[in-house]
Parts: sequence; structure tokens; C-alpha cells
Amino acid sequence: MRTRVVFNQKGGVGKSSIAVNLAAISAYQGFKTLLIDLDPQANSSQYLLGDDATYSADKPALEPNIENYFEEMLGTTQSKGLLSNAIGSILKNRAKGLQSYVHSSPFKNLDVIPASPTLGALAYALESKHKIYKLRDALQQLEGEYERVYIDTPPAFNFFTLSALIASDRVLIPFDCDVFSKRALQTLIENVIETQDDHNDRLEIEGIVVNQFQAQAKLPREVVQQLKDEGLPVLASMLPPSILMKESHFKNQPLIHLATDHKLTQAYQSLFNEIEQNKI
Ligand SMILES: Nc1ncnc2c1ncn2[C@@H]1O[C@H](COP(=O)(O)OP(=O)(O)OP(=O)(O)O)[C@@H](O)[C@H]1O
Ligand SMILES: [Mg+2]
Repeated sequence: MRTRVVFNQKGGVGKSSIAVNLAAISAYQGFKTLLIDLDPQANSSQYLLGDDATYSADKPALEPNIENYFEEMLGTTQSKGLLSNAIGSILKNRAKGLQSYVHSSPFKNLDVIPASPTLGALAYALESKHKIYKLRDALQQLEGEYERVYIDTPPAFNFFTLSALIASDRVLIPFDCDVFSKRALQTLIENVIETQDDHNDRLEIEGIVVNQFQAQAKLPREVVQQLKDEGLPVLASMLPPSILMKESHFKNQPLIHLATDHKLTQAYQSLFNEIEQNKI
């Protein structure tokens, strides 16, 4: 099983689009694939599961979801404290394996653990009870069930992103050619290196995914060249801007199912091949 986290604390750089479309290509190519959504915005859950995963004031989030997993895990701990001699209660309240929170997507080989809007409220309790390794441990139980796991993360460096970095072997960093994004990359890479040092020496920076790259314009070319000159691992396959991405979100159909021959789909396909061949 290979687990990739798509991470950048900057918002709107393409994390959810990249996590979902790479997961969809992976599944399409026959890999049993799981997408875990750790972002309370639940964009990738909605992208793949459509209305079922869309919540509103009168419609609760789809259950079971990743929040239920973390909640039940905390519930277990509380029972242990309160009912330390009641072994039956401990077993009854034990959080189930991650498999119990999985939903099938409409796409063959592709499953999803959705997010929920109130997930963020659990961060403090999870942090104070030192649950940062739980996602990693739970994912290890899925070895054999899935060949590829993609984790979508919120635009922040918080409990959930750190959990995901600890649970993964590779990190993909979307980059949108913006000058502010370039400055944010420094902090981001420092965060990843600190996570490698402190928690997860398996974690490799798989590469920077240049998104919405306008090959004809001078500035984006210069910005990307600067990254390369600084020795940053920029992946060769860059994703062009296209309105097809919004259409794909709107129709809840990943690109590989919506328009196989489109240039954006082809760029994603080439990115997928590049990372799969990456022998880091
Ligand atoms: N290659 C692309 N071409 C055109 N639009 C794109 C492309 N990639 C992403 N977008 C658009 O950019 C916006 C942000 O993308 P996305 O939601 O994937 O980013 P994100 O990093 O997950 O955002 P957030 O930080 O809010 O979670 C979306 O409206 C999406 O449709
Ligand atoms: Mg997102």
C-alpha cells in the first residue's frame, strides 16, 4: 500500500482537485484506491459522492465519516478512564477499524472516507489526548485492502494535516505559480522536514505539482525556473488551466471519466505515470 498526502497550507492551490483526480486515475488503472478527506470543507467527498456528501443547514453530513472515526476513538479513551474495570464496556466502545467508515464511490475500485463540517472542533481534544499517530495506525490495518491511498487535507498546518503527514509515505505539494505561494513553500517544506525528523522518517517529498501552469506566459515560467534553481523537486508533468476542471467538479465526474482525451486529463495521466515510476 502506498499512501500519499496532498498538502499545502495555502488555500485554493488545487489540493482537492489533484487528490481526487490522481485517485480516480489510480482506480481506473486497476489499483484498489481509497481517498480520505480530512478537510471540513469536504470538497473531495462532494466531488466523488455528489449530493450524498453535500451538507447544509437542514441536511447533516454524510455518515459514517472521518469525524465519527475520531469521535469514537476518543469515546474509547473516555470509557477506559471511567470504567477501567468494566472490560465489556471498553470492548463495546472501541472505535471500529477505518474500513467501517468507507463509502463506495460510483467509480470502480475507488472508495472514500468523507469529511464533515464539524471535524475541526475535535482537533483540541485529539491533540490533548496525543492521538496524532492514530490515523497512521488505523491505515496500517488497511494494508492488503488497498493498494493506493490519497489523503486530501485542509489549507492549514494543524492536527489533521500533521496526522496525514505522519500516516503517509509520500507528500505531493500543489503549487499555483503565485508569488505568495512561492514564499509559502519555504515554510511548508520546513514543516515537512520537521515532521520527517520528529515523527516519520519514511516520509518523502514526492514533488511539487505545478498547477494551472500557463506555458505561454513569461512570469509562471520564471517562477517555476526559480524553484528548480533553488533545488526544489518540481515534477516534470505540469497541469494546465482549464475550465474542464470546474465542469468536472460540477458533474461530480473525475477528468478520466469525463473527458479522457482532453489536455488536462492527459497532463494528469502523465503526472500519475511520473509519480508511479518515481523510485524514491
Ligand atoms: N488545472 C486547473 N484549471 C482550472 N481550474 C482549476 C485547476 N485546478 C484547480 N482549479 C480550480 O481552482 C479552485 C481551487 O481548487 P481546489 O479546490 O482543488 O484547491 P484546494 O487547494 O483544495 O482548495 P482549499 O485550500 O480551499 O481546500 C477550484 O475552483 C478548482 O476548480
Ligand atoms: Mg481542498
